[in-house]
Amino acid sequence: MEFRSFIAGRFVDGGRPVVNENPSDLSQPVGMAYELDAAAVHAAVDAAAAAAPAWAASSPQQRFDVLDRIGSEILARRDELGRLLASEEGKTLPEAIGEVGRAGQIFKFFAGEALRQGGQLVDSVRPGVHAEVVREPLGVVGLITPWNFPIAIPAWKVAPALAHGNTVVLKPADKVPGSAWALAEIISRSGLPAGVFNLVLARGSVAGPVLVERPEVQAISFTGSEAVGRRLAADCGPRLKKLQLEMGSKNPLLVLDDADLDQAVNCAIQGAFYSTGQRCTASSRLIVTAGVAAAFRERLVAATQALRVGHALESQTQIGPIADAGQVASVEGDLRQALDEGARLLCGGERLRRDTEGHFMAPVLLEGAGPEARINRVEVFGPLATLSVVADYEAGLALVNDSAYGLAAGVCTRSLKHAEDFRRRAQAGLVMVNLPTAGVDYHVPFGGRKGSSYGPREQGAAAAEFYTTVKTCYIQP
Ligand code: UN1
Repeated sequence: MEFRSFIAGRFVDGGRPVVNENPSDLSQPVGMAYELDAAAVHAAVDAAAAAAPAWAASSPQQRFDVLDRIGSEILARRDELGRLLASEEGKTLPEAIGEVGRAGQIFKFFAGEALRQGGQLVDSVRPGVHAEVVREPLGVVGLITPWNFPIAIPAWKVAPALAHGNTVVLKPADKVPGSAWALAEIISRSGLPAGVFNLVLARGSVAGPVLVERPEVQAISFTGSEAVGRRLAADCGPRLKKLQLEMGSKNPLLVLDDADLDQAVNCAIQGAFYSTGQRCTASSRLIVTAGVAAAFRERLVAATQALRVGHALESQTQIGPIADAGQVASVEGDLRQALDEGARLLCGGERLRRDTEGHFMAPVLLEGAGPEARINRVEVFGPLATLSVVADYEAGLALVNDSAYGLAAGVCTRSLKHAEDFRRRAQAGLVMVNLPTAGVDYHVPFGGRKGSSYGPREQGAAAAEFYTTVKTCYIQP
């Protein structure tokens, strides 16, 4: 397959060919992507800027129709698109089909949002005067998306951007050009005017500076590493460019003595290892109170060792490969360092041989790393979690909040009192009670605190805060 950029209503010829690898089978690449240079990224910004006034003036019906059509096609083709996604990213086929379904639902939701735009009419404090408060589109937005959700994250940035009347330049992660191209291909047949949506396949080091420097790009929404997010903040700040960042995390799951242990183990396994742990919402710090620690540890280790790691498209597989060789090296480096610092290996960490050559690794559980240990501080972004035993709920909550990040925090308990207290005091944007920290809905806000996020929330009605600007108009009739 060939994956190409889409600029000003046309798929672009030329570019530098780059192999799109299949992490489950290195002998079977998914296809070839063609990466463009800075001039092409400028052309995409030009196209988006030219299309902005007309799209800003488009009717809610027009926006609804386009977004609804895109959502319908994604949903109708979820199996096929899921195979492409699983092949290039490595999550299992059911996970990939689920993600494609989510992307389709996101477009449907924002189709509805396009019809639900309204403002406020407020009496002025001056007699006879009133004020109208409305939201207007920003203009061109730059969207930079990561490789771990190759279609859902583009969907949850592109759909609200378009629903709220903006034009788009999407720069997806280099590892997953296929899903982004497939999305562009669907959008190209949706009736959206040329230039409203543009896809650029280009290195981040090429596309990033153009999106930052061009004044026509009013705002940038980015999901990815903390290092890149902080650099964007440093570069966009002086330019007064609006910014939304979703970055790293180190999500805790606290298991209390009164938890339903089967449920708690299930939450831990799903949160830590599904999607191969490559989620910003993954549970990477498992914390358990002393009374139940031995039983929880025993069941957790058994459940981890029972996980079937293998080819993303095989029906038996529960955990797919790590996304690429660089990620494997990074996870192995983090593991080695943790062991050097005194952590104990409970299980996992070995590379696994399967019928195909891929990046397969046995999920890792570590114990005995202190709160200051690097492994409890930095995001691993792979199938690795630490286990820590604490005396009681208060000690557990203190550990939960002892992090530079604050995306998701989970608690497993049958106590309403503890669940309610945790909800109030967890320093996180997402709190999960008796549920895995990962796996979120699309119609409610998503985002975190501290080093995890910056700027307005994504998803649901909250997305309007980022994708629009407020105008207050005073009227004397
Ligand atoms: C989820 O857990 O369902 O990059 C979504 C990420 C997050 C999305 C997680 N922005 O992993």
